[in-house]
Amino acid sequence: MPNNRKKAIIIGATSGIGLALAELLASKNFHLGLSGRRTHLMDGFRGGGHHITAMDVADTDSSRQTLVELIKEMGGVDLIVLNAGRGSIRPKIEWENEKRTIDVNVTGFAALATVAFEHFQQQGHGHLVGISSVAAIRGGGGHPAYNASKAFLSNYLQGLRHDARRSGLPIAITDIKPGFVDTAMAQGDGIFWVASPEKAARQIYCAIRRRRKHAYITRRWALIGWLLGWLPDWVVYRK
Ligand SMILES: NC(=O)c1ccc[n+]([C@@H]2O[C@H](COP(=O)([O-])OP(=O)(O)OC[C@H]3O[C@@H](n4cnc5c(N)ncnc54)[C@H](OP(=O)(O)O)[C@@H]3O)[C@@H](O)[C@H]2O)c1
Repeated sequence: MPNNRKKAIIIGATSGIGLALAELLASKNFHLGLSGRRTHLMDGFRGGGHHITAMDVADTDSSRQTLVELIKEMGGVDLIVLNAGRGSIRPKIEWENEKRTIDVNVTGFAALATVAFEHFQQQGHGHLVGISSVAAIRGGGGHPAYNASKAFLSNYLQGLRHDARRSGLPIAITDIKPGFVDTAMAQGDGIFWVASPEKAARQIYCAIRRRRKHAYITRRWALIGWLLGWLPDWVVYRK
């Protein structure tokens, strides 16, 4: 009897949004490949026949190789979610912090997106999901590399979508833009409309099922996205 179980990989599945999405996909009977640096946080999936692998996405030679091997081990996959990301606001801009964010969110992301895209082209189908941010829409002070890195990620996905269309293959590319989600990454006093990781995961899953090009998480963040695109600098960048 053929095994119709869907197969998905999540990069950055140890906590927050990635972990909640892993739990949701497992409950939907997906066969999972999960990755992150803190592998002990994914121990709960080991009994379910899922694949757990350590990866630091900033180490691109090694992370690309690890993803290739994981895909092979799983006999090909239908869905790859590139969720790993970092960002840490500091009182003043520090190059080490900026560089680390670029290494993970830009270089690390593109290194894995190319592996995923090549796999889907060879296989003839697939679905790539990148976790960007509402921050992608406009530059932000404090940690400018974060907003800029998410702008890169969203723009990169748009480019891959163009290549997917030109290939004529059924390869979907989804750009997810969360607002605030209650995870270790959501810091500061001025946060609002904060969603639980579980709610974020449910809405991401809905966007995946519909093979959406873009989705704001939660949906009302589309309003903030629209405002960020339109408001003048003197309104957005008040002292
Ligand atoms: N929370 C929000 O308000 C919010 C808003 C917009 C967008 N996002 C985006 O959502 C994504 C998930 O973040 P989160 O909020 O769920 O925060 P989180 O709980 O801190 O999760 C971050 C995930 O990324 C992984 N990661 C970070 N650096 C990595 C590295 N060098 N190599 C491999 N994996 C790495 C972490 O795994 P390890 O540490 O175990 O390696 C963890 O699984 C990020 O891309 C973030 O930018 C979050």
